[in-house]
Amino acid sequence: ALKTSFVAKAVEQNQRLYKQLQTQASYKVAVLGAAGGIGQPLALLIKMSPLVSALHLYDVANVKGVAADLSHCNTPSQVLDFTGPSELASALKGVNVVVIPAGVPRKPGMTRDDLFNINAGIVKNLIEAVADNCPDAFIHIISNPVNSTVPIAAEILKKKGVYDPKKLFGVTTLDVVRANTFVAQKKNLKLIDVDVPVIGGHAGITILPLLSKTRPSVTFTDEEVQELTVRIQNAGTEVVEAKAGAGSATLSMAYAAARFVESSLRALDGDSDVYECTYIESDVTDLPFFASRVKLGRKGVEAVITKDLQGLSEYEEQALEALKPELRASIEKGIAFANKQP
Ligand code: NAD
Ligand code: LMR
Repeated sequence: ALKTSFVAKAVEQNQRLYKQLQTQASYKVAVLGAAGGIGQPLALLIKMSPLVSALHLYDVANVKGVAADLSHCNTPSQVLDFTGPSELASALKGVNVVVIPAGVPRKPGMTRDDLFNINAGIVKNLIEAVADNCPDAFIHIISNPVNSTVPIAAEILKKKGVYDPKKLFGVTTLDVVRANTFVAQKKNLKLIDVDVPVIGGHAGITILPLLSKTRPSVTFTDEEVQELTVRIQNAGTEVVEAKAGAGSATLSMAYAAARFVESSLRALDGDSDVYECTYIESDVTDLPFFASRVKLGRKGVEAVITKDLQGLSEYEEQALEALKPELRASIEKGIAFANKQP
């Protein structure tokens, strides 16, 4: 009898929690490229969010099984699968947040820009559908090269007459996640406390961690700054080489992307204390796109935290100037691609 009442209590508790979760869930999220290395673990993490009522999984292949599998988790969101271009519009209708990890990943020896020829066209086609079916959604671009795919998306949305620069985001959260991890390890800090803003872009030297703005305040020797900066900038390549041809970061990326989705949903839900670094259209430097720490609100970017760029160390000032030509070239390449399309 004791055992029965214990079980009954646990079931009751579970049901109460489930009800509570159900009343909170109200946002629809679509993942485009959901059957991929990032897409699958990302979908799982989003399935765990109490803020999500529907999870739309879209891919050109293999998405049915992923959706069937995920749909058995007893969390509130309903999982729906969509395969191929004919189902893309339905995947996007009524969606609040669209996350795009569709496209090919790097192999050892490649730069992110080497992915341009394939991924630029994929992002263009997906964004056209986003423009036609959920123009008000927050759009999270993960597909590389992010430095170019975000400008491509902006141009396509402009052509469609629905561009809102406050709602188009290049996902650079993984750079922050890595910076936080590496700094905490190096300085023996409690991970949960560490926050390093990362600005610029998302490739090589365009990734600029602002170690001088680390919270809690930490002092680094010049050698530590050099070593940590280079490690953060090359962390993607570190994973590509370790995977030795089997792709690039997927699990840490899914974790980082899920954090950015959760932050976006909290902002949409009215939380007034949501800050993330992200690559957006920007006027904080002379470059048209630039990653900064921003405050997120119901309408997207509510404010750019420009004070991060004040009082930089000499190392950071120099690194900022050094990254500009490469970032500018990647932005211009994206814009030129979008504008030569019919
Ligand atoms: P993957 O090959 O494992 O998965 C990609 C998925 O996209 C596949 O399931 C594929 O079927 C799908 N796909 C291809 N064309 C599509 C289309 N037109 N519509 C919908 N889906 C399509 O690759 P991955 O490891 O998941 O990486 C995906 C992308 O994310 C790569 O470009 C990679 O460079 C990038 N990435 C970015 C970051 C970042 O920090 N922003 C981090 C890691 C990876
Ligand atoms: C990363 O930073 O891990 C991604 O951009 C993938 C890559 O190609 O490095």
